[in-house]
Amino acid sequence: MKKCVIITGASSGIGKALVNTYSDNNYNVIAVGRDEKRTQLAIENKPNAKAWIGDITNSKNCNDIIKLALKEFGRIDTLINNAGIIYRYNANNTTDEQWHDSIATNLSAPFYLSRAALPALIKSKGSIINVASDWGLMGGKDALAYCASKGGLVLMTKAMALDHAGQGVTVNAICPGDVDTPMLKTEAAQRQVDYDQAMISNNSDSPTGRITLPSEVAALAFYLSSDIAAQITGTTISIDGGNTA
Ligand SMILES: NC(=O)c1ccc[n+]([C@@H]2O[C@H](COP(=O)([O-])OP(=O)(O)OC[C@H]3O[C@@H](n4cnc5c(N)ncnc54)[C@H](O)[C@@H]3O)[C@@H](O)[C@H]2O)c1
Repeated sequence: MKKCVIITGASSGIGKALVNTYSDNNYNVIAVGRDEKRTQLAIENKPNAKAWIGDITNSKNCNDIIKLALKEFGRIDTLINNAGIIYRYNANNTTDEQWHDSIATNLSAPFYLSRAALPALIKSKGSIINVASDWGLMGGKDALAYCASKGGLVLMTKAMALDHAGQGVTVNAICPGDVDTPMLKTEAAQRQVDYDQAMISNNSDSPTGRITLPSEVAALAFYLSSDIAAQITGTTISIDGGNTA
């Protein structure tokens, strides 16, 4: 029976690369996105992929995503909590709405989905991969709610890894530095800086001289969900060209 992966934030950036990687490797894919057109585009010509459209900050929706995966594919092997949102503001200018949106998207949704997926993951001896951030490991300027939510996601990863190691489920967090996705455009707009200039400094600030590609993050996730990584759990893996070294 083919393995099944659930990928949130599947319509763009890292999520889209994850859909390609898992689909190319013969997985059944549930692609979760908010924008119907963009999510359908991400799974175009992938007969083994199904879209679920909606907002994951609501726990009922998260339960429905798990039900869809089981109905369509009969099993769940990997859950990738990839959807995320960033607001580049500090404690002076972060609004209540931005704070709640950050916690709901970056922290509560991974919890709701993980909780709902656990029975199926215990059965398959599967994996949870949380796409956190280097700003879940260290502070970043003007990214208060993002750092708080990603830091929470990192420790949720470790707590869940301990709780479920004996049941054969691995739980890990990937912590990227800058990755070439639409999120960097959003950040540049919020910081009111020129996107092209920001990209030049992002690349030159990296020890390897370039930022990370979405496909490189997807390849790391694929490794973490493979049988040969069964002994890796509760860890955070940076993929940032050495930036946090
Ligand atoms: N791009 C970077 O530099 C970078 C660095 C570190 C971590 N990350 C993390 O990588 C992950 C993927 O981001 P990306 O860079 O591909 O950016 P992106 O903006 O292209 O993707 C984020 C996706 O999450 C989806 N999303 C947001 N809120 C949602 C909600 N409530 N319900 C359903 N979907 C929702 C968006 O629609 C979007 O498709 C995020 O968790 C982000 O924090 C990105």
